[in-house]
Amino acid sequence: MTIQEKRFRCNLPKTDIIVGPGTLEAIGYETKKVGKRALLVSGKSSMKKLGFLDKAIESLMKAGVQVVHYGEVEPNPTVDIVNEGAKKAIQNACDVIVGFGGGSSIDTAKAIAVVAGHVRGKPISIWDFISPEGANEEITAQTLPLVTIPSTSGTGSHVSQDSVITNSKTKQKQGFGSPFLFPKISMIDIEILSKMPPTLSAVAGFDALTHAIESFFSAHSNPISELYSLEAIRLIFRNLPQAYENGDDQQARKEMALADTYAGWADTTTSDILPHAMAHPVSGHHPRVAHGVSLAALFPAIMRFNLEGADKCTVEKYCKVTRAATGKSIFDNKTGKEEASKSVDLIEKLLKTIKLNVNLKELDVERTKFKLMAADAIKTMPEAIQANPRKVSEEDIVALYEQCY
Ligand code: NZQ
Ligand code: MN
Repeated sequence: MTIQEKRFRCNLPKTDIIVGPGTLEAIGYETKKVGKRALLVSGKSSMKKLGFLDKAIESLMKAGVQVVHYGEVEPNPTVDIVNEGAKKAIQNACDVIVGFGGGSSIDTAKAIAVVAGHVRGKPISIWDFISPEGANEEITAQTLPLVTIPSTSGTGSHVSQDSVITNSKTKQKQGFGSPFLFPKISMIDIEILSKMPPTLSAVAGFDALTHAIESFFSAHSNPISELYSLEAIRLIFRNLPQAYENGDDQQARKEMALADTYAGWADTTTSDILPHAMAHPVSGHHPRVAHGVSLAALFPAIMRFNLEGADKCTVEKYCKVTRAATGKSIFDNKTGKEEASKSVDLIEKLLKTIKLNVNLKELDVERTKFKLMAADAIKTMPEAIQANPRKVSEEDIVALYEQCY
C-alpha cells in the first residue's frame, strides 16, 4: 500500500488545558462550568503536605462548588479504592469528579466517574466494566464529567481517554479507555509540578518518553500523532536531566509538562506497544514497583528486540528517534541499522543519568512468575501486542523478562 492509499483515523483529544504557574487558583472557577458538587480525589499525603489541597478546596468553595474530599488513593490504584470512592460520590450526590495528583489519583477519579455515573439498583464495581474475562457493563455518556490537576509529568492521564486499575485478587493491572473519559478541563500548574522530588521526576518523565516512543512505533501511528511523539522525545531528552537535577528549573518543568501532554495525546490517539503490555504485569504482581520503574527495567531490551526484527520503514523510524533525541535537524537523513541502534544507546544513557538503570532482579520481581506475567500481558493488553511492530509470542515475552532480570 502506498502512503497516499493508507487511510488513518485520529481521534483528537477533547480536553481544555490551562497551563502556567498558579493555575490551581482557578480550579473553582473552571469546575463550576461542569458541576456543582465535586468529589475531590487525591493521594494520601503529598498534596496536603505541600499545602495545595487546602488551596484547591478553598478555590472550589469560593466559586460556590460544594466539595467532598476522598484522599485514599495509593500508587497502582485498586478496584477496592475505586469502589469505595464511588460509594462516597453516590452517597453525596456528586455531579463532577476532580482528579488531583499523579496518574494514580487521576486514573482513580476517571474510574469513579464511571461507577458513580452508572448507578443501578444494586452496587456495581469498576471490574464489571473492565474485566479482561468479559465485561458486562459498558462505559457510556452517563460517566460523570472530569476535571484534573496533574501533580506529576509522566502519565498523560490529564489528556487521555485511558485509566489503569489493578484487581488485587487476580493481580491483573487492567488498562481501559473510552472517549467519555477525556477530562473536560485540565489545569497544569507548574508550581505543583516543580515540587516533584528527583526520583519521581525521573520515574514519571521516563514514563512520558515511553508513551512518545511507543505511540510512534504503534501500528496505529499517523502523521498527526507522529508530530507530537517526535516533539515530546526532543523535549524529554533536552529537559529531563535538568528537571531531575534542579527541580526549581521552571523552563525545564514547563517543557516536561508539555512533553507529557504531547506524549499523552499521541498515545491516547494511537496505542501502547510491547513495553507497556509487559510493564503492567510487573506492577500487577508487585504493586510496590512504580509504573515508570518497571518500564525502565524493560524498555531498552524490548527496543533492541523490535529493532532486530524491523523492516525498512521501522528502521527509518528508529533513525528519526535518534535525530529527535539528539536535537538534530529532521533534514539530517542518516539511515541504516547503526544509526537506528543509536536511539537505544541514547535511552540507556538517559536512564543512567537519571539513575534509573535497573533490572528486574534489583526490583525483587519474582522470576517464578514470568510465565504467569506473560500470559497476563497477552490477556490484559492484546491491542498493544497487536500494534507492536514485531510479531511477538508468549515465549518471546518470557524470554524478554528473563533477559531483563
Ligand atoms: O499519593 P500521594 O500522597 O499523592 O503521593 C504521590 C505518590 O506517593 C507522590 N506525588 C505525586 N505528585 C507529587 C508527589 N510527591 C511530591 N510532589 C508531587 N508533585 O508520588 C507518588 C506516585 O504517584 P503516582 O500517582 O502513583 O505516580 P504517577 O503519576 O507516575 O502515576 C502512575 C500511575 O498512572 C498509571 C500507571 O500505571 C500508574 O498506576 N498510568 C496511567 C496512564 C493513563 N491514564 O493514561 C498511562 C500510563 O501509561 C500509566 O499506565
Ligand atoms: Mn505509561
